[in-house]
Amino acid sequence: MKKIFEPVTVGKIEMQSRILRSATLTDKDSENGAYLPYEKESCVELSKNKVGCIITGMIGVGTNAGAADFAPMANNESFPERFTEICRATHENGGRIVAQLTHAGIQALVFDEGENPWGPSPAVSMVGFEAVEMTKEQIKTVVSDFGKAALACKEAGADGVQLHFAHAYLISQFLSKYYNKRTDEYGGGIENRARFAFEVYDEVREKVGKEYPIWIKINYSDLMGDEGNGAEECLWVCKQMDARGVDAIEVSSGLAVDKASRPMQKAVEGAMVGHFTEGALKVAEAVSCDVISVGGYRTQAQIENCLNLGGIKAISMSRPFADFSYIADWTD
Ligand SMILES: Cc1cc2nc3c(=O)[nH]c(=O)nc-3n(C[C@H](O)[C@H](O)[C@H](O)COP(=O)(O)O)c2cc1C
Repeated sequence: MKKIFEPVTVGKIEMQSRILRSATLTDKDSENGAYLPYEKESCVELSKNKVGCIITGMIGVGTNAGAADFAPMANNESFPERFTEICRATHENGGRIVAQLTHAGIQALVFDEGENPWGPSPAVSMVGFEAVEMTKEQIKTVVSDFGKAALACKEAGADGVQLHFAHAYLISQFLSKYYNKRTDEYGGGIENRARFAFEVYDEVREKVGKEYPIWIKINYSDLMGDEGNGAEECLWVCKQMDARGVDAIEVSSGLAVDKASRPMQKAVEGAMVGHFTEGALKVAEAVSCDVISVGGYRTQAQIENCLNLGGIKAISMSRPFADFSYIADWTD
């Protein structure tokens, strides 16, 4: 019988409990790409209170990658020093830390002057920017940026990295048939749409070495009906990633193009499962690496129920650990 508060190894990382803080980017995290004290303070607080592992809010990997002007950037000159401090403080308080690496793609709010956001195919971003289809050169640049960012995180002392394959950022834009309309080898069937994700993973693996934990966060469903990806595509990608050596998969959902497809859904009072528990259980049946379930977990009884329904190794939570008033807008 799995319990929340017991030592456990998830995705090759030993931790003090089966609760993780899922990636949570906040407007207090950074200024112009440089970390402010907030992430360190919250890592200390969470670690002292027995959260097993903190997944950082998304860190932009480099060129045109920033999801917001308050997103920390791995290529910012202050990153090595400030992120080293965050990792050290987390470890000193008994916690573990995994750096979530992201390219915002179409949804980027920070991109070079005179440029447009980059995407797999042309699209208008949620705030109205006109994203352009990436050239193969630009794809190579981003793949290489992921590798450099992962190495910077490893050198700063992070216990692992998590590649953001979910929620309508660049990798999920390539994966999803909703955004990816390419006609070259990066578009078409899921085998082609996943090519970019695999190239990113292979580059990161090459940079950080065979033993270093690499996790992914992926959509079980885009929550877009037939227009987006569903279980079949997710399970195929997860099996491929498992075979390539990924160490843990966090299962989320949602392409976030409208209210119905938001990954942050309103928590259901008294629920004994999370929003996407069923998907996490299916992924756990399909792969040999560890599986983390996120979304809507709120009580000890609910969490321990889900940990014991099948192969879910740990659960992660975002909003219960955050205290920002603006989050209220994202819940209903
Ligand atoms: C303020 C806020 C920021 C978030 N930032 C990220 C992020 O940087 N990366 C990510 O993968 N998910 C992010 N999420 C989604 C959460 O990690 C999580 O998947 C979602 O909120 C559902 O979990 P919950 O019900 O425990 O909040 C964010 C959620 C919130 C509320």
